[in-house]
Amino acid sequence: MELQQFRPKVAVGLSFSALAMLYSVMLVGVYITASHQGLSCQDWPLCPNGFGLPSEKHFFEHYHRFMVVIAASLIYVTAAYAARNVRPARKTAIITAILVSVQIVLGMLVVNTKLEPLLVAAHLSTGILLFAMALLTFLESYRLARKRRESSTL
Ligand code: HEM
Repeated sequence: MELQQFRPKVAVGLSFSALAMLYSVMLVGVYITASHQGLSCQDWPLCPNGFGLPSEKHFFEHYHRFMVVIAASLIYVTAAYAARNVRPARKTAIITAILVSVQIVLGMLVVNTKLEPLLVAAHLSTGILLFAMALLTFLESYRLARKRRESSTL
């Protein structure tokens, strides 16, 4: 029952794409902090040039947000798939989906409060927790896919 709809390539592909995108979002986020560009774009939800190409000033902020849209979409799709088909990864996938929603709200507050230190700290620590949960989801999917492959070659 648990594995009936389980397609190893879909589960591993989705969870890995979400993880890789999340890693990229975090990389750009840390770059923004380290280069003191956190206040370069104070609009919400998009930077001043909206869906157009970003100006040099908003470049990293613009892509931090743009990549969040892709990462969050992948996380929600992974959670929906895991909830139905990948029982061992269900919990972590759902926690990841909840955390990404919290992280987006924290990102908004970080911008609206002009980098309130407590919120920046919460944004970083939630990001780490989020990455850990996405990694666990990927590892569980991978483990299950391997188990499936081994049992089918026996
Ligand atoms: C998947 C969602 C997100 C993740 C994983 C994420 C991750 C991160 C990380 C790891 C940092 C570096 C923090 C530090 O080094 O202290 C950062 C910085 C930042 N993030 Fe995000 N972020 C996300 C969503 C957002 C959103 C939606 C916004 C809203 C605009 C946002 C705004 C910012 C800003 C302004 C900074 C720079 C803070 C500073 O200069 O100190 N983030 N983000």
